[in-house]
Amino acid sequence: MSELSVNHLLGIKYITEADIQLIFETADHFKEVINRPIKKVPSLRDITIANLFFENSTRTRLSFELAEKRLSADVINFSAAQSSVKKGETLIDTVNNILSMKVDMVVMRHPNPGAGVFLSQHIQASIVNAGDGAHEHPTQALLDSYSIRERLGDVAGKNVVIVGDILHSRVALSNIFALKLQGANVKVCGPLTLIPKYIETLGVEVEPDLRKALQWCDVANMLRVQNERMDISYFPSTREYTQQFGVDKALLDSLDKEIVIMHPGPINRGVEITSDVADSKQAIILNQVENGVAIRMAVIYLLASKIKN
Ligand code: CP
Repeated sequence: MSELSVNHLLGIKYITEADIQLIFETADHFKEVINRPIKKVPSLRDITIANLFFENSTRTRLSFELAEKRLSADVINFSAAQSSVKKGETLIDTVNNILSMKVDMVVMRHPNPGAGVFLSQHIQASIVNAGDGAHEHPTQALLDSYSIRERLGDVAGKNVVIVGDILHSRVALSNIFALKLQGANVKVCGPLTLIPKYIETLGVEVEPDLRKALQWCDVANMLRVQNERMDISYFPSTREYTQQFGVDKALLDSLDKEIVIMHPGPINRGVEITSDVADSKQAIILNQVENGVAIRMAVIYLLASKIKN
């Protein structure tokens, strides 16, 4: 297969296993490019991309911008906090105004689930979802699986546990879709109040005991508790959360085997993982960030190829 089955990347739910493998093979090439002395290729000199961020971001925003620049695209950046959204302008009006400046692709992070799907139905541009509320974060899941493949050789057949606030996590949902598509076994672990009731319909098991979950897995993806999306208390205190669901080096060292630790960032050090875990050889957190640039170059390149055709 030489092209994606989709014109937008709105979620892992909408793509195929073959799409994922094509993105990985393309990312392998771009990973080699970004490790050269000259880290840039002229592939997208005729493409203009708008990065629209209606929610805060460090890794995703910088990584998309770098990926676009490495491909020689023209880039404009929009942050809702400094825009006319604050004066009441709607999403469609905002985007249509930006598109009048002849933009070909929109990368958007938005607090509302489905914002990317909505946009794709109303405007003529390729849309990349950079995180829509608690729904999906497809490029994060792609870079996570790519990082597992890099560390362990393959994703198929691997045991992956996603630990923490599953309920409010777009990273969890996109990871579950991506891992299941590639044939990994997936469990979730966390306070039962933070695990959606439908989770088992996605082919995922719930393991409430962290030690058992870690003993079972090859990879633990540790998620942040998203206090900003909570309007009630889901557990008694941060201290109790950490005692039950936090990972420290003593816990890792007490397991029968060495597991891989992942985290999408930002980390709350001392809550979901301690610093000696975050900074250990077992953690591939900064590899995930590095791979994010290659994965986003691959996604943008493949979607842009469809615009050009
Ligand atoms: N992993 C992730 O989405 O981080 P940011 O919110 O900083 O982009």
